[in-house]
Amino acid sequence: MRSISMKKIAMVAAVVAVLALTFWAASAPAAGGTAAKKVAASEDNAWRQVTACDQRKTVVVEGYPDDRPLPEAKARQVAALLSDLMKYCSEEVRARITREERIYLSVNGSPFVQFVPGGPLPLLPVQGKVPTPREMQIWKAELARTVDEGNKLFHNSKLGTNGISCDMCHPNASNTHPETYPKFQTQLKKVALLRDMINWCIENPLEGKKLAEDDPQMKALEAYILTQRSGKPLETGKH
Ligand code: HEC
Repeated sequence: MRSISMKKIAMVAAVVAVLALTFWAASAPAAGGTAAKKVAASEDNAWRQVTACDQRKTVVVEGYPDDRPLPEAKARQVAALLSDLMKYCSEEVRARITREERIYLSVNGSPFVQFVPGGPLPLLPVQGKVPTPREMQIWKAELARTVDEGNKLFHNSKLGTNGISCDMCHPNASNTHPETYPKFQTQLKKVALLRDMINWCIENPLEGKKLAEDDPQMKALEAYILTQRSGKPLETGKH
């Protein structure tokens, strides 16, 4: 009876110790918390958070306020660390660079462990998520739908006002040369992107109203034209 309760006490103590350690590691500073941000106002407690483009890797740099850019050497260190962390692919990784230049990592919310730059990652890199056949099917179908929409617009005079459509001068997107953009265009007297020339032709030969850059119709036209020239090597600036 007595030995069982001692065991219980020891177990509870161990759990409390692990929880306290995890809390210590995770709490200072909490990701993006507004309360913690306020603390950053004072230089001593300052920290700045940088997030990678997959939004699943964050680096907290202690000792640097978030109201001004990091010095170049620090910025390079953060970029190199984030690039290293991308090896964890779709996993959630949080890193801290302390004032003493020590680096700690936590993968998927696990307790922070120390990481020595240049050395191996402290945890086994997790294999990147391979798309499922169903995902691949959806992505392919979505692209095909967009290209098809572009195909229809390219063969339809509704983009203009005079009954003329793109295909009448560019059958099968011929002479559109998307692989040569960006390049200087004399009509526009500036470096143009493919979409600038699409709009130029909508406004001139078709006498229509130009499309906004993020108009889904613009995306569809670009998707169609580029797909027609798929496999052509890029030759930026070629005339
Ligand atoms: C009346 C004929 C005509 C029609 C219709 C027309 N274009 Fe053009 N397009 C031209 C001419 C001419 C040029 C200029 C070629 C150049 O200067 O590079 C051109 C250039 C382009 C270019 C750049 C080609 C390059 O070599 O850099 C693109 C892209 C383009 N057109 C897309 C379209 C689209 C999209 C439509 C329909 C909205 C369209 N065009 C309708 C005649 C036409």
